[in-house]
Amino acid sequence: MVVRKILTILLLLFRRGIIQLTSRYVRYKYVLSGAKIGRSLKVVGNCKIRGWYCNVDIADHVDIHNNCCMLIGRNSMLKIGRRTSISYNTIINAGVGNIVIGENTMIAGNCYIVSNDHDINTTLSVRDCGHIIGDVHIGNNVWIGANVVVTKGVHIGDGSIIGAGSVVTKDVPPMSIAFGVPCKSVAKRILKGNEKE
Ligand SMILES: CC(C)(COP(=O)(O)OP(=O)(O)OC[C@H]1O[C@@H](n2cnc3c(N)ncnc32)[C@H](O)[C@@H]1OP(=O)(O)O)[C@@H](O)C(=O)NCCC(=O)NCCS
Repeated sequence: MVVRKILTILLLLFRRGIIQLTSRYVRYKYVLSGAKIGRSLKVVGNCKIRGWYCNVDIADHVDIHNNCCMLIGRNSMLKIGRRTSISYNTIINAGVGNIVIGENTMIAGNCYIVSNDHDINTTLSVRDCGHIIGDVHIGNNVWIGANVVVTKGVHIGDGSIIGAGSVVTKDVPPMSIAFGVPCKSVAKRILKGNEKE
């Protein structure tokens, strides 16, 4: 029993050490590539930034989990506020248009956030038709559930919750609980206090 506990603690410390080491390595790699990265970036596993690192601004204590991918274009910007976490397999596509994510926000796994559409009203092929840009702004203290898509031009207000599986095509007012396809605000959050379960 005691041996098991010691082994578990050692394993946890080892895992933490590996995460800290890789996070530090990734942080230096990003900083040397021109990105602005705050203190204590935690990267668990493999995360990719593609494009113009100099247009990336990640604040302190941000957590990014396995297989996240971020695309940043020459004329766009990706900004992530402090203490925000981005979970497994999430893709943030700011290849064209800006994406700003606030502080203390949680983005669950398998989300796709994108700040442009292809221009579908032309005779050109979809590959050649160019983009329609709409900056995306996700506020502070927002929780985005798993498998959510956020499309161009959307602003999600501070304190809002977006239910799992939603497709957010329009603005969500602050402190809303919103879900569905298309995502609609169904209620306002009622806050009880500071107690934790
Ligand atoms: C949005 C959410 C927070 C709402 O939780 P809640 O207030 O407890 O809501 P309830 O479970 O009481 O559901 C209320 C109604 O909304 C519906 N509903 C809840 N979430 C929904 C969603 N994401 N999409 C569609 N309908 C949803 C329920 O089916 C229920 O409908 P009914 O009244 O017809 O029975 C929650 O359902 C959710 O989606 N959480 C995200 C979980 C997640 O992705 N976690 C990832 C790890 S961080």
